[in-house]
Amino acid sequence: MSPTATLSDVRRELEAVAATAASPQELMTAIVRSLRDRLSVYNWVGFYMLEKDGDEDVLVLGSFAGADTPHKRIPLDRGICGAAASRGETIIVDDVHSDPRYLSCSIETKSEIVAPVFAHGRVVGELDVDSHQPAAFSSEDRALVEHCAGLVGRFLEKDSDQHI
Ligand code: SME
Repeated sequence: MSPTATLSDVRRELEAVAATAASPQELMTAIVRSLRDRLSVYNWVGFYMLEKDGDEDVLVLGSFAGADTPHKRIPLDRGICGAAASRGETIIVDDVHSDPRYLSCSIETKSEIVAPVFAHGRVVGELDVDSHQPAAFSSEDRALVEHCAGLVGRFLEKDSDQHI
């Protein structure tokens, strides 16, 4: 697929996928592949979902596209990922090497955005994107990444309503 799509092309395509996906996993896999394959500065894209580890919440890597990462389970007090999930806020880091929270996944990564996934008003996971380009993520990228996280949150809400 072409890596030169516009953000609005990708947004439209993923809205269509969300309308027909059979499961949250299918939707998350489509999102990570599409963002990475279609947008040239999105070099690593993955979902981390919250799970219980005893009494603690931990972020567990789910669908991802890009190089393998050593960070498959991230406690909420670690990394940019932990900060975004525990605050319930999108975090953009223009230069990961100047952020002491940063957990390195690839030496090539220069900037990162993490947007929480909310379902029924609570953080249930997050969408993490890394770029090899410094300061790769603008306010338009933030809107797209938050929109993709929102597609998953709404799908999870719909899915859980069907099981009540
Ligand atoms: N950089 C993240 C860890 C995940 S890897 O980028 C895939 C962080 O600082 O939490």
